[in-house]
Amino acid sequence: MVVLLTGGTGFIGSHTAVELVQAGHEVVLIDNYVNSHPDVADRVGHIVGRPVTSLQIDLLDRAGLEAVFAQHRIDGVIHFAGLKAVGESVARPLAYYHNNLTATINLLEAMTAAGVKKLVFSSSATVYRADNPVPYREDYPVGATNPYGWTKVMIEQILRDLVAAEPDWSVMLLRYFNPIGAHPSGVIGEDPNGIPNNLVPFVAQVAAGRLPRVRVFGDDYDTPDGTGVRDYIHVMDLALGHRLALERLDRPGVETYNLGTGAGSSVRQVVAAYQRACGRELPTVVAPRRAGDLPSVYADPSKAAAGLGFRARRGLDEMCADSWRWQCRADGWTVD
Ligand code: UFG
Repeated sequence: MVVLLTGGTGFIGSHTAVELVQAGHEVVLIDNYVNSHPDVADRVGHIVGRPVTSLQIDLLDRAGLEAVFAQHRIDGVIHFAGLKAVGESVARPLAYYHNNLTATINLLEAMTAAGVKKLVFSSSATVYRADNPVPYREDYPVGATNPYGWTKVMIEQILRDLVAAEPDWSVMLLRYFNPIGAHPSGVIGEDPNGIPNNLVPFVAQVAAGRLPRVRVFGDDYDTPDGTGVRDYIHVMDLALGHRLALERLDRPGVETYNLGTGAGSSVRQVVAAYQRACGRELPTVVAPRRAGDLPSVYADPSKAAAGLGFRARRGLDEMCADSWRWQCRADGWTVD
């Protein structure tokens, strides 16, 4: 297939591009580079051994988007692009709703005009309402606690409504748990702007000496060691999940799948794994709980196993080792 990846130079987009090309697909990456760099496409090309098509397109630019569909024979789209910082979304709700929703509607209209009706959408475990018990199942009720999360809930609904009205669409909603790690080459990885919000990018920068210490947001949760538990999934496993979903877009309708491992790890377990990866103790302090955090979030991965044949196989140590290799390369250090 020729696959258009919106947000194609972002963290998950770039790793999925590698997975798709290595499985024999062709990719067209588009991105506005608000939260990524154009040279990521060169790095993807370096890994796969040939150049990949990459264009600077903002999804809010309808004409630019339509030109992409006019110039490339796109078979399907994976829609990663979107603003994704929870705290920023609370401070700038209109920017989040405008950017994430308008961009998606523009994309769907451009796809309709071009006769492309196969879509994989980047959703999130954040769509599960906080009162659901773990592990999260796809049939649980949805809701959100911040504008970022609501944009995911709303886009899922827009896509369900679209499929109801136009049954020849084929849509996969993929709800990611906590993607971490990097390509094992260390050539691509997560590259957050400013001080990272998420645990593993933050720990990586402590390990690199760029930040002084890891803050553990609460150690009095009702979890085995008192710290927050999440379902961390290696970004290359997540990339595989996208390819499997894409390759099953041959039936009309909409399907929803969790992409997680099904296993939870605590903040302390993540820090311990990272210490093993980087080979030293990391300074750690306990800080107050972060507003809005849940004690424990992990997936029931059985539907994706049955429906997509998807199973995450990389463990926490491999995730941290690959994250650390990327961090060292990004800082210009020699590793291995
Ligand atoms: N944590 C720390 N210290 C930090 C950062 C995080 O202790 O510096 C803890 C959090 O309290 C939480 C765990 O590490 O227990 C994971 O936090 P992340 O910020 O890495 O991930 P979240 O689970 O909070 O966020 C993820 C996605 C969001 C999504 C959210 C809700 O990154 O996009 O899940 O599902 F909105």
